[in-house]
Amino acid sequence: MMNEEMMEIIEKERAYVATATPEGVPNVVPIGFIKPLNDKTVIIADSYMIKSRANLEANPKVAFVVQDAARYPYQFKGSAEIFADGEYFDKVVDWVKETNPLAPKPKAAILITIEEIYSVKVGDAGKKIA
Ligand SMILES: Cc1cc2nc3c(=O)[nH]c(=O)nc-3n(C[C@H](O)[C@H](O)[C@H](O)COP(=O)(O)O)c2cc1C
Repeated sequence: MMNEEMMEIIEKERAYVATATPEGVPNVVPIGFIKPLNDKTVIIADSYMIKSRANLEANPKVAFVVQDAARYPYQFKGSAEIFADGEYFDKVVDWVKETNPLAPKPKAAILITIEEIYSVKVGDAGKKIA
């Protein structure tokens, strides 16, 4: 699924994460606390999400690109699960606290199972990679 380069860049960079209402109204937000757990799964700390969270509760479909899409031209698509307690939640709470002790405690962990990866590279745009 995700290769090493993809996993490294998701860990390092901010991503722009798109969700949609059940009616299809799109919403996109920058997210700093996003990292891969393995080659099929990405985790996000939900500290501030309002519309994104409401969208995900009603419609789990997510798409994201990383900030530097010129160098890392990948579009990731998947489905989200929300954990407001338990192992994944504890993981994001520790991660945020270690990274920035002043940051507020996350409200939830959002686990994204990656289902498809496309290229957004000019010339190659729209090509399915995985
Ligand atoms: C640089 C940057 C990084 C951000 N990182 C996060 C994050 O890791 N987690 C989070 O919940 N919100 C983060 N936010 C806030 C969201 O982008 C957004 O403001 C929030 O989800 C509310 O928007 P919404 O109602 O459309 O979801 C970040 C915002 C900026 C500007």
